[in-house]
Amino acid sequence: MPKKLPDSLVFTMTDRVVLRGMTKADLERVRTWGNDSEVATFIDRVRPISEVEHEKWFEKMVQDPNVYLFAIDEKENRQHIGNVWLCNLDSRHRRAEIRVMIGDRNYWGKGFGREAVSAAVHFGFEKLNLHKIYAYVLSNNPRSKGMFEACGFIVEGNLKEEYFADGSYIDGCRLGIIRKE
Ligand SMILES: CC(C)(COP(=O)(O)OP(=O)(O)OC[C@H]1O[C@@H](n2cnc3c(N)ncnc32)[C@H](O)[C@@H]1OP(=O)(O)O)[C@@H](O)C(=O)NCCC(=O)NCCS
Repeated sequence: MPKKLPDSLVFTMTDRVVLRGMTKADLERVRTWGNDSEVATFIDRVRPISEVEHEKWFEKMVQDPNVYLFAIDEKENRQHIGNVWLCNLDSRHRRAEIRVMIGDRNYWGKGFGREAVSAAVHFGFEKLNLHKIYAYVLSNNPRSKGMFEACGFIVEGNLKEEYFADGSYIDGCRLGIIRKE
């Protein structure tokens, strides 16, 4: 697999989004998103994220050779609206997990998630030579499931009472997409 590219370098572009390396300058914005109660529910986060914890998370991500962390910029105004990342890269099985967050709620439901995920999947298949990319989604998040399905992911399995959220156990599912050779 290729070495990681420098921060803030543009990796790929679609009609409406740019994926670039996340930098320290983006940190506080991303922390604010993670501390938004609605976003937090969907990313399975219960405690507020402190500055110190957030910086440690970022350092760990950038140093981990099995993580590619992208900032998603809305292309027209080059405004940072979220993040998408490939993690748990497994070079033997050629698979990785994908996670995504459109942090700015004004951009929800407008196709930005679909474009960013499709671009990251393309990067994973074409640049990292992956065979499969998968995602975990909670049952309280039909938008995310619909978005992954719109990108070509299919449900590989339902996860019964996998998550404890808001005082009860809820289901989840794993979705995956396989590279078409
Ligand atoms: C989940 C998230 C990334 C989706 O991105 P988005 O930009 O809001 O979603 P999109 O507008 O790209 O949705 C794309 C597709 O999902 C489908 N979709 C959207 N909302 C849906 C809903 N409520 N139910 C079912 N499907 C839905 C649509 O069919 C759409 O497909 P189309 O473009 O072919 O019509 C974004 O809402 C987000 O970051 N939410 C908070 C954090 C989060 O949930 N992260 C994911 C954790 S697994």
